[in-house]
Amino acid sequence: MELLKDGIDAYGIDISQCMLDELRAKAKAMGLEPKVSLGDMRNFKLKDKFALIIVPFRSFLYNLTTEDQLKTLKNFRRHLQKGGRLILNFFYPDIERMMSFGKESEDLIVTDKGEYGLREKSYFIDEINQIIETLAVVYKEGDVFWKGTYRYALIYKREFELLLRLAGFKKWEVYGGFDYRPLTSYKQEMVWIAENV
Ligand SMILES: C[S@@+](CC[C@H](N)C(=O)[O-])C[C@H]1O[C@@H](n2cnc3c(N)ncnc32)[C@H](O)[C@@H]1O
Repeated sequence: MELLKDGIDAYGIDISQCMLDELRAKAKAMGLEPKVSLGDMRNFKLKDKFALIIVPFRSFLYNLTTEDQLKTLKNFRRHLQKGGRLILNFFYPDIERMMSFGKESEDLIVTDKGEYGLREKSYFIDEINQIIETLAVVYKEGDVFWKGTYRYALIYKREFELLLRLAGFKKWEVYGGFDYRPLTSYKQEMVWIAENV
């Protein structure tokens, strides 16, 4: 939505029809017409090649297996123009949080500002294959607004570098936040910029 508001020619895909309907309804209320379609990041096929592909809000982590992670990265590369960029972000696996998974102390409020609040609790589904499940409760003005679970893969920096390499990327940078600060701690968000040279 922010891209459309700024007049940027953007195309969006999501695997969930509900999410697309929500976006269309919000856009309509603002007089905007989004170009979106139902698709899976692992295998969507579009005729266009793009100058930029962004994968916001840690969505890449929904690829739970190495096979799916590679499929997705290869598919993104197929849809990038020469010199085009892929930008995505996800958290560095936090050793301290992982140690407290499943304990009461892990029930932490991630956001509690403004109208909405978010409370999350995570536990391991499969420690060997680095898969966690997160129970999230979204509050609206103090009342439960949405409750659900989602599964994430944990991905380390060196692991993602190997994935990029295997998917055919030859040039990338990683930062420890959205302001280009260096990645120095496992408490930081990894922000990746890979170029299709
Ligand atoms: C954290 S939400 C981000 C929502 C929205 N795209 C945005 O930017 O505001 C993650 C989204 O990823 C979608 N998703 C999960 N697995 C996917 C897949 N394999 N391909 C495409 N979208 C997927 C979910 O349906 C969900 O809407």
